[in-house]
Amino acid sequence: MESRRMPMRRPLDRRVGLGGAAYRLREARREDAADVVALFRAVLEEGRYFITEPGEYRGRAGEEARVILRYAGRDDGLYLVARREADGGLAGVCTVRAGHLRRTRHVGRLEVFVARQDRGRGLGRALLEAAVDWAEANPGMRKLSLAVFEDNARAVALYRSLGFEVEGRRVGEYQEADGRLRDDLIMARSVERRPRGEAAWGEGGG
Ligand SMILES: CC(C)(COP(=O)(O)OP(=O)(O)OC[C@H]1O[C@@H](n2cnc3c(N)ncnc32)[C@H](O)[C@@H]1OP(=O)(O)O)[C@@H](O)C(=O)NCCC(=O)NCCS
Repeated sequence: MESRRMPMRRPLDRRVGLGGAAYRLREARREDAADVVALFRAVLEEGRYFITEPGEYRGRAGEEARVILRYAGRDDGLYLVARREADGGLAGVCTVRAGHLRRTRHVGRLEVFVARQDRGRGLGRALLEAAVDWAEANPGMRKLSLAVFEDNARAVALYRSLGFEVEGRRVGEYQEADGRLRDDLIMARSVERRPRGEAAWGEGGG
């Protein structure tokens, strides 16, 4: 177990040009924490995409910085951010966290969100592709899994296009303030093994 916690690889870092805008995708650093908390809160305030309501969110930069440091350079998790090259602003976040137990540590739980102004240009896809590349080059990862509201059409379509399939539906798992029940989908894909050192493992720079 301890060996999986040793820093073992070059950090993922790549530049992508999307619809006239350029972004830098790289692994998060401690100083990204406050922006991550602010962006996640802004997404929660849209009220549709995550189960936590804004008033329930207790995110703090200090705590998030500890999470970021926990995953930096490790094999059992990935914490990616995308920043706009134009103004340096945080445009997106994607995390993968492996289970902590021997029977669960081959599965990476994935989360992703993109700032409203940056959506629809392919940034979500670029973040997820980077996460899949990381997983494929990681000998410990055999499966990526996520949960998504069934009515989040954009996210579901994007996950499907990246090879995720619906493994199950939790009917009425969430209740809105007006009493309406919502389903979520469990989606997952297996991870094809790729030799370490190939492609995105430590690719890029800058
Ligand atoms: C889901 C999210 C991460 C996707 O990121 P994005 O940068 O907007 O997505 P992309 O531009 O990379 O790709 C979106 C894809 O969905 C498609 N799409 C957009 N709206 C759609 C819709 N209503 N129905 C179906 N497909 C749709 C796009 O055509 C695109 O597909 P393409 O690459 O084949 O053209 C982003 O929209 C987001 O942060 N949403 C709010 C938070 C969220 O829902 N997070 C996921 C929770 S599980």
